[in-house]
Amino acid sequence: MSVGGAKNAVLPIMAACILNDGENTISNVPDLADVRTMMELLETLGARCEYADGELLVDSRTIDRYKAPYDLVKTMRASVLVLGPLVARFKKAEVSLPGGCAIGERPIDQHIKGLRILGTSVQLEDGYVSAVAKKLEGTTVPFDLSTVTGTENIMLLASVCEGETVILNAACEPEVVDLANALNLMGAKIEGAGTDIITITGVSSLGPLKGYSIMPDRIEAGTLMIAGALNESDLLIRNCRFEHLGALAGKLLQTGTEIEKNGNSIRVRGTGKIKSIDFSTLPYPGFPTDMQAQMMILMCVADGMSVITENIFPQRFMHTAELRRMGADIKLVGNSAVVRGVREMRGAPIMASDLRASASLVLAGLCGAGRTEVSRIYHLDRGYEKLDEKLQSVGASIWREQE
Ligand code: EPU
Repeated sequence: MSVGGAKNAVLPIMAACILNDGENTISNVPDLADVRTMMELLETLGARCEYADGELLVDSRTIDRYKAPYDLVKTMRASVLVLGPLVARFKKAEVSLPGGCAIGERPIDQHIKGLRILGTSVQLEDGYVSAVAKKLEGTTVPFDLSTVTGTENIMLLASVCEGETVILNAACEPEVVDLANALNLMGAKIEGAGTDIITITGVSSLGPLKGYSIMPDRIEAGTLMIAGALNESDLLIRNCRFEHLGALAGKLLQTGTEIEKNGNSIRVRGTGKIKSIDFSTLPYPGFPTDMQAQMMILMCVADGMSVITENIFPQRFMHTAELRRMGADIKLVGNSAVVRGVREMRGAPIMASDLRASASLVLAGLCGAGRTEVSRIYHLDRGYEKLDEKLQSVGASIWREQE
């Protein structure tokens, strides 16, 4: 099984194309609903996008609008990533405020704070963030907390601000590094990405991105690793970066799963005896919140009791009610889930509530006795390319039916 390009890297890199006037070509682009939504958003702004076989072209020369409408933003919160680039290009932007989210409260106050510090006046009007900048000048942007898309938005804007911007308490996620690498290839001057202090020396203009290859998706890789751990199987997961998966690999080793790094591949062997462990989600390099739901499945069938603490999105537990329908023993206490392993989960009709939850329900189906029918899998297609076919290729009995 081979891992595709990272959703959370390609989305900000697509938004970065707004910063230049040219034909951008990006490769290793996964075929995901979210990529299509970002293409639609860029087209709404006037860009021309073409996508085939993992290659994406974004012609940004024709971008002539600065409004990201509610209809698109409501289907994908990452749309907020166009805010910084639009302010950079037009000195103004109107971006719908993202609404509710299945994984809990997701404010964008830090994005707005950063924009204001760099010289943008921001108002909230009729559900839209309305931004106007007179003079954009680099300075220190101290975030109150670690925010991935917040860091990216400010990095995007600061790339073309006058002078030096220093982001303090920056997010260290590998996707932030991938964006910085892409921006630097466009001609930006960014240092420190991957640490919590990022320094950006503004340049007057950026050129197009040519043939940039998106990093492998560490969350897809992690999801496949858990599929391997769940079953007594021996899986080879190709095209991934082990160094991005340290926290997960460490926890999987504690459960008794055997893991071996093999160049750009990871071999995972489930031993059939899964030990319960506790884990807490944290910003990178901690255990990723985007892997919490999938790892919970392993704990549902492990030997013993596990306490899972969700520190990033404290309400990201919608999957637990569905898992109980399959016989899982899970109690929620504040932002923690107490999971007692059961010998076997049973197949049942279940419903996906968000992207990562839907991946966890598919994993639950793989280890539940009998037939599991997961509905609303459009959530899955937002962030996983052909997960069903990949799992099929290693022997899983999984297929897609028309809803
Ligand atoms: N936060 C604020 N104010 C802000 C921004 C964030 O309070 O202005 C809080 C959030 O509510 C949360 C924490 O800060 O408690 C971290 O949120 P962050 O901003 O880092 O999340 P994000 O940028 O909105 C990205 C990913 C998510 C992933 C999180 C955490 C993209 C497009 N999305 O979201 O991915 O869960 O970082 O790692 O990069 C997914 O792929 O399924 C997904 C949800």
